[in-house]
Amino acid sequence: MSKSDKYTTTDAGIPVNSDEHSLTVGPDGPIVMHDHQLVEQMASFNRERIPERQPHAKGSGAFGHFEVTHDVSAYTKAAVFQPGTKTDVLMRFSTVAGERGSPDTWRDPRGFSVKFYTSEGNYDLVGNNTPVFFIRDPMKFQHFIRSQKRRADNNLRDHDMQWDFWTLSPESAHQVTWLMGDRGIPRNWRHMNGYSSHTYMWVNAEGEKFWVKYHFKSDQGVECMTQEEADKMAGMDGDYHTRDLFNAIAKGDHPSWTLCMQIMPFKDAETYRFNPFDLTKVWPHGDYPLMEVGKLTLNHNPTDHHTEIEQAAFEPNNMVPGVGVSPDKMLLGRMFAYADAHRARLGVNYKQIPVNKPQCPVHSYTKDGAMRTENVSDPVYAPNSKGGPHADPERAPNMETFGASGDMVREAYTKHRDDDDYAQPRALINDVMDDDARERLVNNVTGHLCDGVSEPILERAFEYWKNIDRSIGERIEKSVREQLKKS
Ligand code: NDP
Ligand code: HEM
Repeated sequence: MSKSDKYTTTDAGIPVNSDEHSLTVGPDGPIVMHDHQLVEQMASFNRERIPERQPHAKGSGAFGHFEVTHDVSAYTKAAVFQPGTKTDVLMRFSTVAGERGSPDTWRDPRGFSVKFYTSEGNYDLVGNNTPVFFIRDPMKFQHFIRSQKRRADNNLRDHDMQWDFWTLSPESAHQVTWLMGDRGIPRNWRHMNGYSSHTYMWVNAEGEKFWVKYHFKSDQGVECMTQEEADKMAGMDGDYHTRDLFNAIAKGDHPSWTLCMQIMPFKDAETYRFNPFDLTKVWPHGDYPLMEVGKLTLNHNPTDHHTEIEQAAFEPNNMVPGVGVSPDKMLLGRMFAYADAHRARLGVNYKQIPVNKPQCPVHSYTKDGAMRTENVSDPVYAPNSKGGPHADPERAPNMETFGASGDMVREAYTKHRDDDDYAQPRALINDVMDDDARERLVNNVTGHLCDGVSEPILERAFEYWKNIDRSIGERIEKSVREQLKKS
């Protein structure tokens, strides 16, 4: 074995005497306290783990770039989407409910987070591999996540509480149908699509506004695992998706996604047949076809998973000029949640961790705090007459929301003509799935319901599926009753 030409040091850079032996009084005597090298090693080890992300704890990612291939400057002035622009990106994929060591192949949506290091600041698109979500009001998010994680008493995940929450939240029907269908377990991260899910706003150089949804279509194609394959893989290799991505990139097989947009003229939102900001709905492609924008390619693995992936901080509030929010209540809730989570998990100066640092100049007026590494310079206040940075509204992103008039209420969105929790999952079952896919859906739901779901939740689950599609609901009920009789 060849010896490295590097010499071990302490964290202070001081050369050390041995990599293997503590400092003792004679070879068999006690260890002395001034062996600060041993102390540093033990103390550092004891502090290696940082809190895991609350949801989306298990994941990994890689670096690459996004290149614009089609001209969408008529819809957005964002520098990152101008023709020919190439931007460095970081991506992280994840499961939602599992902890940091949990299997990659559990049935769950997958996180699809992109950080674009643009010339106008970091732009984070924190999406999923599904175009919709379980709920439409941020007030329910923490409850939803707790219902997917572990019980208080036995610390086990529990299908009973999952179906309890879902069947009492009919707005979950679309996402649950998606999740129980073929796309509920991706074969790997390379073979799945990513979606903004939310509707965002784009603004062009003339100030004209549009409503948009992002779709990242996998250039590798979509491939999924059956429940049986996924269960087997969870036992054989809990890190299968992590390994697949790392190995593919390491051998030069660089995965890519084509970014396509659905773009809705601003005025259409007022008269569209359902609420276009409702996160439990897609915009049918027939109404708003996909328009190609560019290609995102991953070509570079992390060197240090902890510093570059575990400490990566994605936040939907990181939006650049030319991109803005929509009146989607979930999106507005997320504008607070992530930066708060990062301050708790990584510390107030998390944006100075290299992976989170913008690749453009930063001139903010924040100062001090734990672990700050970038020097600030005077003046440290604004307004000032000392030549400090000054705000320029022309360059800032659009943060206005719309439809904000009326009394303060705690209510559901105003009803549109076709706002219905069941129509889109019914379309997914009847128009998109074929007979075999419907059979797998019935089997997946049966397996899930037969694993610890109690009455009256079971009865509610049959009703839930009958509301989506009567015949599928009846098939699920029959199949569950038969299974339960046998067991
Ligand atoms: P389309 O026929 O234009 O689109 C159907 C979409 O479903 C395609 O994007 C297809 O993806 C995707 N798909 C195929 N199999 C599955 C599956 N088992 N689970 C989830 N998605 C699947 O129809 P519409 O746009 O009118 O939408 C009909 C239904 O399709 C919706 O209610 C929704 O459930 C689902 N869907 C719609 C999307 C949208 O943004 N409009 C996006 C994804 C799903 P691919 O092209 O990659 O094969
Ligand atoms: C992670 C909150 C909805 C996608 C997180 C985290 C929090 C959070 C606190 C952990 C962040 C961290 O510690 O780094 C919320 C709230 C939501 C919401 C309050 C609704 C009100 C959504 C939706 C999506 C989504 C709708 C997808 C469209 C993700 C992803 C991650 C994440 C992908 C992992 C980010 C990463 O890779 O580091 N969420 N979330 N979340 N969330 Fe959400």
